[in-house]
Amino acid sequence: MRVVPVSLGERSYKILVGGGLLDRLGRECARLGPGRRCAVITDSNVGPLHGARAMESLRAAGFDPVLVTIPAGERSKRWQVVARCHDELAKARLERRSFVVALGGGVVGDLAGFVAATYLRGVAFVQVPTTLLAQVDSSVGGKVGINLKAGKNLVGAFHQPRLVLCDLDVLGTLPAREFQSGIAEVIKYGVIADAAMFRRLERGMPRLLARDAAELAWVVARSCAVKAWVVGQDETESGLRAILNFGHTVGHALEAISAYGKWLHGEAISVGQVVASQLSVATQGMPQADADRVRALLQRAGLPVETRLANAQATRLAAAMQLDKKVVGGEVRFVLARRIGEVTWGQAVPIDRVLELMLPSRADAGAGATGLE
Ligand SMILES: NC(=O)c1ccc[n+]([C@@H]2O[C@H](COP(=O)([O-])OP(=O)(O)OC[C@H]3O[C@@H](n4cnc5c(N)ncnc54)[C@H](O)[C@@H]3O)[C@@H](O)[C@H]2O)c1
Ligand SMILES: [Zn+2]
Repeated sequence: MRVVPVSLGERSYKILVGGGLLDRLGRECARLGPGRRCAVITDSNVGPLHGARAMESLRAAGFDPVLVTIPAGERSKRWQVVARCHDELAKARLERRSFVVALGGGVVGDLAGFVAATYLRGVAFVQVPTTLLAQVDSSVGGKVGINLKAGKNLVGAFHQPRLVLCDLDVLGTLPAREFQSGIAEVIKYGVIADAAMFRRLERGMPRLLARDAAELAWVVARSCAVKAWVVGQDETESGLRAILNFGHTVGHALEAISAYGKWLHGEAISVGQVVASQLSVATQGMPQADADRVRALLQRAGLPVETRLANAQATRLAAAMQLDKKVVGGEVRFVLARRIGEVTWGQAVPIDRVLELMLPSRADAGAGATGLE
């Protein structure tokens, strides 16, 4: 088992990474010294697959857990579902020393974390992420919340978990497309902070795609270490934490214009990372060879690296980027790379310049931009 510390003063916690950890859930929770009552919040896909083991492990350690199952999918990140969870917690008479276990992907983690942050003005919670994306990204860092009709993640809190338990075995049931989507965030960590990690991913991609246990353990632990390091420097996103958004400006806009259906998050930020790399070549002196390596590695992970936008879509993409809180005076603030392993944030880029890279016809006319042909 690997242990990755997250250093946040009195809110510090550990991320445990390894096989068979779900069976240790109860014992690891007992170490935190909580009350007996707890709730496991999971979704309709994960519950039937892994819920029983989580419940048994908690019972074996002397806890009295209640299982709350929400419908799988992004639509569950909303007020009605939060309220239903609160009611279930009250019905099971959870009290101040009780705790909530989030067993699922990022949707369950964000929702259950928000439920825990708000029930009785905050009870402890433990993350048991079951998607690769949740293990390497959303379960670490304490951002929890839900969506509004007006947009994603508009209501939320910072509520750090007391423990994150990444059981690599549960990834065995994850559909391939979801798994590959998580790899986009893994590659991102290499680009933003760790050139050696990036090189290792270039060598080990076939093993990672085969979900080789040793490779997976290393990848999850290393990704968590990078995220933990960034969050440890900047818990509430006043500066450095922005680098986690490499590839996300365009990625989020692509997700928004396709009504959160067509693209999985990792797929959208894969295209976003390719665009950000090209902008980095043009404005930050990133070597073209580095940008080519980013694109090639994403492609080898089975991720999309380009999209052909029709003119009308480009207009909507521009509008979606305008809505982004990072826009100032027609220019979008980007996280860009100087080279693989080193990024800079808050870089203003005119929206037209971004679109040039995404409209094949305009890219052809551009000065040597390889674009997204
Ligand atoms: N809080 C943060 O810092 C942060 C960061 C990144 C993303 N997020 C959020 O995370 C969410 C996306 O997370 P996600 O990609 O994990 O999506 P998800 O939670 O919807 O999971 C994807 C799908 O996989 C299923 N699933 C989960 N684990 C499984 C398993 N082991 N076996 C089989 N099926 C399984 C789920 O039921 C779901 O259908 C978004 O809401 C996003 O906003 C939050
Ligand atoms: Zn992301």
